[in-house]
Amino acid sequence: MQEFKKKLSEAIVSVIEDFFQVTEIKAEDIYSYLEYPPDDKLGDLAFPCFRLSKLLRMAPPKIAESLKEKISDFPFWTAEAVGGYLNIKIKNEYLESKVLGNIEEQGDNYGSNNIGKGKTVVLDYSSPNICKPFHIGHLGTTVIGHSLKLIHSFLGYNCIGINYLGDWGTQFGKQIAAFKKWGDREVIERGGVDELVKLYVRYNNECEENEELKDEARAEFKKLESGDEENLELWKWFVSISLKEYQKTYKQLGIEFDSYKGESFYTDKMPAQVEKLRASGLLKIDDGASIVDLTEYGMPPCLILKKDGSTLYPTRDIAAAVYRKETYNFDKCIYVTSSAQSLHFAQWFKVVELMGYDWYDKLVHVPYGTVSIDGSKLATRTGNVILLKDLFAQSIEKVKEIMKEKNPDLVDADEVAESVGVGAIVFYYLYNNRIKDINFTLEQALSFDGNTGPYAQYTYARTCSILSKADEAGIKGCGGKISHDSEAELLKVLSRFSEAVIEAHNEYEPSVITRYIIDLCSSFNHFYRDCPIVTAEDDDIKQFRVRLTRAANGVLKTALHLICIKTPEKI
Ligand code: ARG
Repeated sequence: MQEFKKKLSEAIVSVIEDFFQVTEIKAEDIYSYLEYPPDDKLGDLAFPCFRLSKLLRMAPPKIAESLKEKISDFPFWTAEAVGGYLNIKIKNEYLESKVLGNIEEQGDNYGSNNIGKGKTVVLDYSSPNICKPFHIGHLGTTVIGHSLKLIHSFLGYNCIGINYLGDWGTQFGKQIAAFKKWGDREVIERGGVDELVKLYVRYNNECEENEELKDEARAEFKKLESGDEENLELWKWFVSISLKEYQKTYKQLGIEFDSYKGESFYTDKMPAQVEKLRASGLLKIDDGASIVDLTEYGMPPCLILKKDGSTLYPTRDIAAAVYRKETYNFDKCIYVTSSAQSLHFAQWFKVVELMGYDWYDKLVHVPYGTVSIDGSKLATRTGNVILLKDLFAQSIEKVKEIMKEKNPDLVDADEVAESVGVGAIVFYYLYNNRIKDINFTLEQALSFDGNTGPYAQYTYARTCSILSKADEAGIKGCGGKISHDSEAELLKVLSRFSEAVIEAHNEYEPSVITRYIIDLCSSFNHFYRDCPIVTAEDDDIKQFRVRLTRAANGVLKTALHLICIKTPEKI
């Protein structure tokens, strides 16, 4: 549609120049005024002429009339003047030759763009705190983050995905002390993070009654900080136990990271930044702690050093940002976290600005709302947090049951059930605007006929099965033209894909693509309902419908992959 809108805008501008002798208006302005009419019976696009009435000193309905007359000579559309609007209908020839033609020519690249060419984007996402369970709160950062990475790559950016593990802090003193007291290597090797959590919780509980334990933990952390071999070995082992477990979840989601440099990596990089802060007079001592006062900017102070001189979360973030700028020279550095951390990011972004780093405006915080799930029905192992792996496992089990009924002979049933079960949750999550708090039930996410992942994956599988039937019947899928409205409608939806990708990119909002997928699926399913494909009588019609199916198949696959959803060919 972008190309179409561009052509239309240029045509309108040339009419304005020739007919009204006005040259102030540019095609980009016209482009930005174009609207999608609320009812598609009115047309595919509308131009609100009141936008020009001041400039042309003419009433909008008159402008619409004059434009209509002049513009109807162009080959790709028909125009209608209704009130102050110029309504445009795309001609089938355009859909056939340009839209379908483009999809076929560009293949997997259809919808992509090179706006990111030569630019680097760093994305900091997922970033769980080790020795802690990976719970549903991490779903947002993990899938929004990865989807944004895929969207940026699709638009030509060089992307670096960083898992900024929370792998440093005084809590590891407790973890080490607890392990030394009660830990058993084998139990932890077998039970993973759950066992580490048990040790930690026990230690914390006993700390409440026993001050000495607190001191012990502090001493263990000090030893770790100063490089004590035994403690360092234990800590590394905790990291690897945690990662091994998180990686199972990443694998189910098809996610890989380019770097796992966590908070610990920055311990030796903080002093330089603290020094810079001090030298530039930004540090203030407040009750023994070192802070940057942000009253002037309407924010509480940013904490840099505790009373005892130890560093804090913002200190590490500042050092990490400087390191990333030096290492990757990013054009954008994106942080995806819950909106509960919005203040933290606003504060340290401001500090980076005050420090004189001219790239402060390249730091982007992408917040998201909270997720709650019909919790009571889910098994939880550690208190009341819901683990992502448990949620996935339940979803996969349910899908297996459904599939046993729907398609008992399916090959690779387990693999498919995993793609559908996990995909259902991801899709449901990414369907909403990220900032909204959401609550969902598995039943809703798994419904095969709502706006869900299974529905989208099922539609994709349907396109695959039609294409394989066409293949068996020797239908190549070439030539032909539009013979039914549903075909034209499908092509119009297909033509909007690149706009959806750009909007998702501009707004840091994968949900734009998720909702586009639903539009595409419903448009394809209308077409499928209205139009026999392989069984159509006329050969030209058959050929054309196979082409359309192939186009929908390709775009659906690309779009689903952009939101981290796998695409089994049979369900
Ligand atoms: N580890 C943090 C948490 O679980 C998230 C880290 C986000 N990234 C960052 N650069 N601060 O809350």
